[in-house]
Amino acid sequence: MVDFVKLKRQYDLFAPEYEEAALRALRSGWYIMGGELEAFEAQFANYTGAGCCVGLNSGLDALTLAVRALGIGPGDEVIVPANTYIASVLGVTENGATPVFVEPDRFFCMDADRIGAAVTSRTKAILPVHLYGQPCDMEAICATAKKYGLYILEDCAQSHGARLNGRLTGTFGTIGCFSFYPTKPLGALGDSGAVITNDPALADRVRKLRNYGSGIKYVNELEGVNSRLDEVQAAVLQVGLRHLDEGNEYRRRIAERYLKGIRSDLVTLPVTRPGAEHVYHVFAVLSEHRDALQKHLADKGVKTLIHYPIPPHLQECYARLGYVRGSFPTSEAYAQNELSLPIYVGMPDDDVEAVIEAVNSFEV
Ligand SMILES: Cc1ncc(COP(=O)(O)O)c(C=O)c1O
Repeated sequence: MVDFVKLKRQYDLFAPEYEEAALRALRSGWYIMGGELEAFEAQFANYTGAGCCVGLNSGLDALTLAVRALGIGPGDEVIVPANTYIASVLGVTENGATPVFVEPDRFFCMDADRIGAAVTSRTKAILPVHLYGQPCDMEAICATAKKYGLYILEDCAQSHGARLNGRLTGTFGTIGCFSFYPTKPLGALGDSGAVITNDPALADRVRKLRNYGSGIKYVNELEGVNSRLDEVQAAVLQVGLRHLDEGNEYRRRIAERYLKGIRSDLVTLPVTRPGAEHVYHVFAVLSEHRDALQKHLADKGVKTLIHYPIPPHLQECYARLGYVRGSFPTSEAYAQNELSLPIYVGMPDDDVEAVIEAVNSFEV
């Protein structure tokens, strides 16, 4: 049986460090907003080169509070990819703003050439998602944002450590939003997230928003929420951060083996954008026979997933936006044809080989 992801293997690789960190936090007697959070925020700010990092409860909160801190709300529009996980869009609609969808390019990310046509007088921001761990065309997106005077909120929930022309995702735009869900390239052992930014005033607003809108205890400037990254997760994340580049390398090596080993006319392999360092959070292949391929792999004991079977514009929760099947054909085709092969830190070599053989033996 080939698992899609087995977190226990990654945990076991660094178990003594995780356990030391968790025990350190547990034994400290201080569990919320303490030294571990401060240390992690400083280390992540340092790793990314961003001036500020604010730890939060989840990636969705990172997006929601980033949008809120920029003052984006009802009547405003935010340009989002049509091909993404729903959370990218929820961060916008949670604030009462309207998502405007843009079709993906051949790298699965928002097509930079189509953004200009989506800009209106109400547009406030562009929200590119570095989907599957591959950077978007940030140079073009930054140029468009500059031309129209728009903020950029980068959704880096899948792209920790991914670079474009040497620059880390999350550092191109106004603010970078991260999830540390356990399976992510930098994962905690529970829920958590963060934003990074070079703008101290913006960081300060997010810092207040995460703590009931308060900077000084019992003084509430903003209508905030409770979205704090707890001390145990902050301690564990310091371990994950130390091994982030190594983990990304591990998945890249698996990806290289897939790219070399998979030979099938029925499967299209992923391509990397020139200048991009993909971190392969997801290894996404396309096949017109996706469902049959998934069944064939399951019969061979290989588990796979689909990222994502229903694009946001066709989700029931967004029926009010009035989109129909055919509104975004490229995204809909990806939803129909995409299949994610197993790839994770600690994945055994034999499992990689088994996946390659199973894909290559697929016939229709
Ligand atoms: C692209 C993207 N954005 C946002 C999120 C939300 O992150 P979280 O699960 O930490 O709320 C996820 C994670 O699942 C994601 O994949």
